Amino acid sequence: MDFLINVFVVLHLLGLAAIVGSAVFVARGVPTPALVWGARAQIITGLILVGLNEAGDEPLNHTKIGVKLLIAIGVAACAEIAAARERKGQGNPQLVHAAGALAVLNTLIAVLWTSAS
Ligand code: HEM
Repeated sequence: MDFLINVFVVLHLLGLAAIVGSAVFVARGVPTPALVWGARAQIITGLILVGLNEAGDEPLNHTKIGVKLLIAIGVAACAEIAAARERKGQGNPQLVHAAGALAVLNTLIAVLWTSAS
């Protein structure tokens, strides 16, 4: 179980790299497929991690998970809307920046929120 959890943590970190790498460092202001798929992947791998941790009786801070889920939905919404507008020729760099900033916020929460509940 620990190995499987670690595999999904790696996938979760790759999703984070896709979002922040694309939005903040590479294609500033342009919604790339890496941004959109990274945002989707965070929700899916995050929920799988919750399931695996619960199944393995690993302690989880559910308040922290709830906050991260809300922020991750915000990241995905910004990425999806930015990509849809880009397809219509109405680029919106602010939405891409917001997706990157929210992903950085979720990283800070993931690592710095260390209390048990
Ligand atoms: C943009 C969205 C997200 C980012 C940037 C993000 C970031 C991270 C990072 C950096 C870690 C590793 C923390 C560590 O090992 O110290 C982590 C772990 C984890 N994340 Fe996320 N995450 C996101 C979304 C989610 C979502 C939506 C869920 C679940 C609903 C979730 C659930 C988890 C769980 C269960 C872990 C492992 C246990 C823990 O450290 O609390 N994440 N996340």
